Amino acid sequence: MSAPENSGALLQVRDFSVSFDIYGKVTHVLDGVSFRVEKGERVGLVGESGCGKTTTLKSIMRVLPKNAVIKGGGINFEGRDVMSMSDAETARMRRCGAGMIFQDPSSALNPVFSIESQFLTALRYANLPGVSKKQLRGTALEALNSVMLPDPDRIMKSYPYQLSGGMKQRVCIAMAIASGCRLLLADEPGTSLDVTIQDQILRLINRLVEERDLSVVMVSHSLGVIRESTSRVNIMYAGTIVESGTTDDVFTSPAHPYTTALMSCVPKLTGSAVARGIPGRVPDYAKPPEGCRFFPRCPRAEKICGEEKPARRELGGGHFVSCHFSEGASDE
Ligand SMILES: Nc1ncnc2c1ncn2[C@@H]1O[C@H](COP(=O)(O)OP(=O)(O)O)[C@@H](O)[C@H]1O
Ligand SMILES: [Mg+2]
Repeated sequence: MSAPENSGALLQVRDFSVSFDIYGKVTHVLDGVSFRVEKGERVGLVGESGCGKTTTLKSIMRVLPKNAVIKGGGINFEGRDVMSMSDAETARMRRCGAGMIFQDPSSALNPVFSIESQFLTALRYANLPGVSKKQLRGTALEALNSVMLPDPDRIMKSYPYQLSGGMKQRVCIAMAIASGCRLLLADEPGTSLDVTIQDQILRLINRLVEERDLSVVMVSHSLGVIRESTSRVNIMYAGTIVESGTTDDVFTSPAHPYTTALMSCVPKLTGSAVARGIPGRVPDYAKPPEGCRFFPRCPRAEKICGEEKPARRELGGGHFVSCHFSEGASDE
């Protein structure tokens, strides 16, 4: 496994591949995923359900399930090779370097401990020894305030079951922020909640990211969310990044047929177009297509697409596409 060189990026994922072993049957999910996040940058990761977005974030946090096998590539966070971190270094990175916000906030909180106890444990990991409990409590209350939770004192005494989904999601965000994390990995935040709550959570994240100059990887299957809250975007299909570039470039001139197909699925508020979804489905990862993974569903596919993996090519201005037939692309 190659360790990525220190390139100055806050996060660099390079040629990362992950398979899963399901009782002896192997599925090849991530296939050479590469992207980077600069300090203060908001990067989107978008694609249909099952394309490997959560697996990518879990790889960064080193919280992949036990049956995952890393097949190659490397991840570098703040100049350090994540894959070779000791347990203590990994724990520290999770507590105060990179914070992950999960789709379902219930899974991120332990039901048997009060919010206060979980919050203070998280802060103790993140802070230098010698900080008093009173100071940590003050930091926690301030963070609960900043995520606009009413009556932080009462929240601290509560147990997760006493809070609504939206409140739990805010608590998780407060914990990530208070620990001083510099990178937020937001995995479809709030999509398990009511749409209005989801919208509030997204606004909250966007505000905090701006105020605190955080970097963020925003994962979503919604193009609207990505367009609103990111400056760069990576389009993910079946465990591969098929297109990446500034959010403006990718939305105004999508180059990969998958990106175009995703965009034509967005329901239009005006007019009579009805979203139909992309015909076909994400491939069986036990036997993914050779060549381009999108070719069985691609309206532009030709013979070569089923035989050779397309190289990543630049269209200019940091806009990259991996497609045999994208026009205007030059070899990298
Ligand atoms: N623990 C696991 N064991 C086996 N397969 C898994 C496991 N976790 C995820 N997968 C598979 O990996 C693929 C990608 O999943 P995921 O990363 O959750 O996609 P997304 O977040 O884009 O919806 C799916 O086919 C999923 O079934
Ligand atoms: Mg997911």
